[in-house]
Amino acid sequence: MLLELRGLQKRFGGVHALKKGDLCVEAGEVHLLMGENGAGKSTMMKIVAGLQRKDGGDFLWQGQPVDFRNPAEAQRMGIAMVHQESLLAPHLSVAENIFLGREDLLPLGFVNRQAMMTKTRRLIEEHKFPLQPEWRVDRLSPAGKQMVEICRAIQHGSSLLIFDEPTSSLSDSETKEVFGIVRTLRQRKVGVIYITHRLDELREVGDHVTVLRDGETIHTEPLATLTTDRIIQYMVGRPLSSVYKREPITPGKPMLEVKNLSSGTLLRNLNLTVRAGEIVGLAGLVGAGRTELCRAIFGIDPIDSGEVLVEGKPVRIRSPREAVQSSLALIPEDRQKTGLARAMPISFNVTMANMEAVSPNGMVSTSAVKVATDKAIARLHIRCESGGQLAGRLSGGNQQKVVISKWVTRGARIYLFDEPTRGIDVGAKVEVFEVMDELARQGAAILMVSSELPELLQVADRIVVMRQGRFTGELPGRTTQEDILRLAAFESPGKVS
Ligand SMILES: Nc1ncnc2c1ncn2[C@@H]1O[C@H](COP(=O)(O)OP(=O)(O)OP(=O)(O)O)[C@@H](O)[C@H]1O
Ligand SMILES: [Mg+2]
Repeated sequence: MLLELRGLQKRFGGVHALKKGDLCVEAGEVHLLMGENGAGKSTMMKIVAGLQRKDGGDFLWQGQPVDFRNPAEAQRMGIAMVHQESLLAPHLSVAENIFLGREDLLPLGFVNRQAMMTKTRRLIEEHKFPLQPEWRVDRLSPAGKQMVEICRAIQHGSSLLIFDEPTSSLSDSETKEVFGIVRTLRQRKVGVIYITHRLDELREVGDHVTVLRDGETIHTEPLATLTTDRIIQYMVGRPLSSVYKREPITPGKPMLEVKNLSSGTLLRNLNLTVRAGEIVGLAGLVGAGRTELCRAIFGIDPIDSGEVLVEGKPVRIRSPREAVQSSLALIPEDRQKTGLARAMPISFNVTMANMEAVSPNGMVSTSAVKVATDKAIARLHIRCESGGQLAGRLSGGNQQKVVISKWVTRGARIYLFDEPTRGIDVGAKVEVFEVMDELARQGAAILMVSSELPELLQVADRIVVMRQGRFTGELPGRTTQEDILRLAAFESPGKVS
C-alpha cells in the first residue's frame, strides 16, 4: 500500500472543502478520482502533494504518518503532481521548467544547461510531444503547457503520480499519448491517481474509482464492476441521464459571416456563416487553427485579407473592444490567462464586461451588481460562498463557469466559445449546453470550438472541420465521430459546401 487517507479534513475559512477524504492507492494501480466541480478532489490531492496542510484526519505514506509542509518534501518522498492550473514559470523555457528546483548542478552551483537540454529533448521525443526544450512556456498553448507539466512530473522517477485533469486541454491524439504514459507508469509499478471529468476516458486507464461528493468520499469500487450511470449517480447524488441532445431550431438571418479570411501564417481563405439560432461546431486537432480563427474574428489577431460581416454589414474589428461593440463575445480557451480576474471577486468577474447594465445612473450600483451576480450564480450553479468570494479561490470547474457567465450576463448576440466545457463536470456540462441552447433560441449565433467529439455531436447543428488553417469539410450535426476524425486528420483540404 502506497497511500492511505482516512477522514482527511480541510477548511478554507468558512468553506469545509474536505470533510471526510478517504482513499487507498497501491503501487501499480491507476485510481480514478471523480466528483462534481468543487467536490474537493484538487484539495485532497494538494494535501498529498504538499501544497496544502491537512486540518485533520490520517495521511499515511507507505505505512508511515506524514504531513508535508511543502511540495519539495512530497517530491523527496516520491510524490509528484500534474496540476489543473498551470504552475509553470511563464518566462522560462520548457527545459528550465521541467528541471526547475532540481537542476543538474555543477560543483559551483551553475546549471548544467547542456545536460538539461539533452535530457529534455529525450523526454519530449520519447513521448512524441510537439515541444522544443528552448521554447518559452508563455508562448505555448494550454495543451503545450500541460505536456510540460507531465514531463516535469515523470522526469523524477516518482512512486506516486497525481494527474489533475491532464487531458482536459488535449486533443484526442494527445490524450492517447497521456494514456500511454499512464500505462507505462502502471507497468513500472508506479501508483497513479487520475482526476477526470471525461467519462468516456475512464475505461481506457482506470483500475479503481473513488467518488467524492461535497468533501466526502462516497464510494470506492473496482472499475470493472461499475457502470457509468452509477458513477454519475454517486457524483451528483441523483440519477442523471448522461446523454444530452439539442433539438435544433430553424435558423434565422446570418449573424456572422466570414468571407475569404486569411490571417497570419496559418489561416487561409476561410468562409463561414453562422445564423441566428444556430450552433455551429468547429472541429479539428490542436493546432488546426480553430483558436486562431476565433482570435482573428474577435480582433485580437489582425486579418490580412477577407472580411467579416455582422448581421449582413461589413465590419472592421481591430480590437476586442470593437468586437464587443459589434455584439461579439469570446469565451477563450486559456481562461487562466485571458478570461478570469483571479484576484477579484466573482461579482466583478460577472459584471466587468457589462458595466452599463449595473450602472443605471452612470455609477455602478452595488445592488444591481448583486442581483446580476446572484442570477449568474443560480443560472450556472456556481458553487461558492457568495458573490464576494475571490474567483481564484473557486475550484477549477467553477472558475470556468464564472467566465462563461460574464458573457451570458452581457447579452452578446454572437458567441465564440473556445472549448467551453473543458474541466466541467457532467452535470455542469449539461447546464452549459442548456445555456448555449437558450442563447440560440433567443436569436444568438454560436460558434463552438471543441476537441470533444461526442460533445459536438450532442450540441452542434452543423460541424465544420478544420485542418492546417483551412476548412476541410462540413458535416451535419448527426454525423459520426469517424467522419469528423477522417476530415480532421486525413482528407486533403477542400471547399466547404
Ligand atoms: N485556496 C482556497 N481558498 C478558499 N476556498 C478554496 C480554496 N481552494 C479550494 N477552495 C474551495 O474548496 C472547495 C473544493 O475545491 P476543489 O478545488 O478541491 O474542488 P474540485 O473537486 O477539484 O473541483 P473541480 O472539478 O471544479 O476542479 C470549493 O468550494 C472551493 O471553492
Ligand atoms: Mg479541481
